[in-house]
Amino acid sequence: MRIDIISIFPQFFDCLDVSLMGKARDSGILQTHIWDLRDQSEDVHRTVDRAPAGGGAGMVMKPDIWGKAIDQVIDESGANKTVLAIPTPSGIPLAQARVRELAENTDHLVIACGRYEGIDQRVSQYYQQLPGVEVLPFSLGDYVLNGGEVAAVALVEATCRLLEGFVGNPQSLLEESYELSGLLEYPAYTKPQSWRGLEIPPVLLSGNHEKIKAWRREQSLILTATRRPDLIEKINPDVLNKTDREILAAHGFLPAPFKRKVRFRLARVGEEATCSALASRLFPQACPPYLPPDAIERFIAENLSEQVFKNYLKDPGIQIVLAEIDAYETAEAQNKLPQWQPVGYTLIKAGSPGYLPPEENLVKATGENCAYLSKCYVEPQWYGSGLSGAMLEVSHFTLQKRYPHIVKIGLGTNLGNRRARKFYRRHGYRKCGQRIFMVADIENQDLVAVRDFTTCQIPSWAKNVAQ
Ligand code: ADE
Repeated sequence: MRIDIISIFPQFFDCLDVSLMGKARDSGILQTHIWDLRDQSEDVHRTVDRAPAGGGAGMVMKPDIWGKAIDQVIDESGANKTVLAIPTPSGIPLAQARVRELAENTDHLVIACGRYEGIDQRVSQYYQQLPGVEVLPFSLGDYVLNGGEVAAVALVEATCRLLEGFVGNPQSLLEESYELSGLLEYPAYTKPQSWRGLEIPPVLLSGNHEKIKAWRREQSLILTATRRPDLIEKINPDVLNKTDREILAAHGFLPAPFKRKVRFRLARVGEEATCSALASRLFPQACPPYLPPDAIERFIAENLSEQVFKNYLKDPGIQIVLAEIDAYETAEAQNKLPQWQPVGYTLIKAGSPGYLPPEENLVKATGENCAYLSKCYVEPQWYGSGLSGAMLEVSHFTLQKRYPHIVKIGLGTNLGNRRARKFYRRHGYRKCGQRIFMVADIENQDLVAVRDFTTCQIPSWAKNVAQ
């Protein structure tokens, strides 16, 4: 690739000799030419700028001087196609995809570094309509530099490192931020193992490559969700698996096709109306098809009323976690206050130390200090979004924090509900028996399952999420 840089501060670009950039030039994959714009000026003061037409502060760089400079480098290069990059705070934000395209498809790059109030607009206009030239006005970010030189160096460095033969291991480039997955890169560590009281995360020293890969993926997702939520919207949904979605949900996002923000919080005393309405709405949707509507209605009236929830919310041994979705789609939510609407919940009974779950089979399998996951419901519209898994793990974590005596958790789920059984298996629940579950006077066969937090630990991404 040939790069011509035109500037009134040619000495600025001495930095390109340093490090790999110099090596790239020596190896021939890159030729850089630096030009002094003032050499095109014809007056003794080497003037390149004038007052702006229409008045106002500052000076504008003259089109005739720039035209001569640019024509000269295009002629000299002999290139069929030139990209004329113009750094300006009003350009399109420079992104990795554009840089990659430049590195792969451009033989000749000219960078025109403006100063002062910029370059006369007609320069950009003229070259835009010239065959064989593509004009690329680009910005480094939403801040104003004194001129385009720093941005030019950034463009050269970002582009050159993607040229074939520039780095030793091209795979390392693909693992970076913004490449392939559209996520930020995971954090890196090296020895010493302990530095000023801070440790390398133990998983990185475990030698278990699967676990290391999973940890790095998790870190990438969390970093992206917390630092660059704008990138979440741009993730290709095909690259996200179930766990990825759960991690993002735990950090507030349900990416496409759901495109919503989500949050998890403990239900508070006084919210019995919200809880009862939600529970009554969700219960029928999860019932087996053979249950008659009147049995469902009776169950709701007896077990999910406001009064029942009022008692639950007052009970210090009971935890209710709500999952709430913002009514606005992420794209339109930007300048609006979120409108949180409950779409799922868990209700866990934990009691005080020595607590026994209310299920005979759980008592047999676990003994005391086993919590009981009494309810775990999500509106079917959000199945597949990661919300349910996030809600469950966040509830586990909150439970352990609030009730440190709890070491296990058990549940019953309808034998015929394969979706639920698969879900709980994925989240570490193992079958330990059966029970009869009554809905009004109808008997239902339930599977009873238990998860042991000592052998199946709560994932770190579920920590400190619930508000
Ligand atoms: N020139 C001045 N500010 C700039 C920015 N933010 N990006 C690119 N070029 C600039």
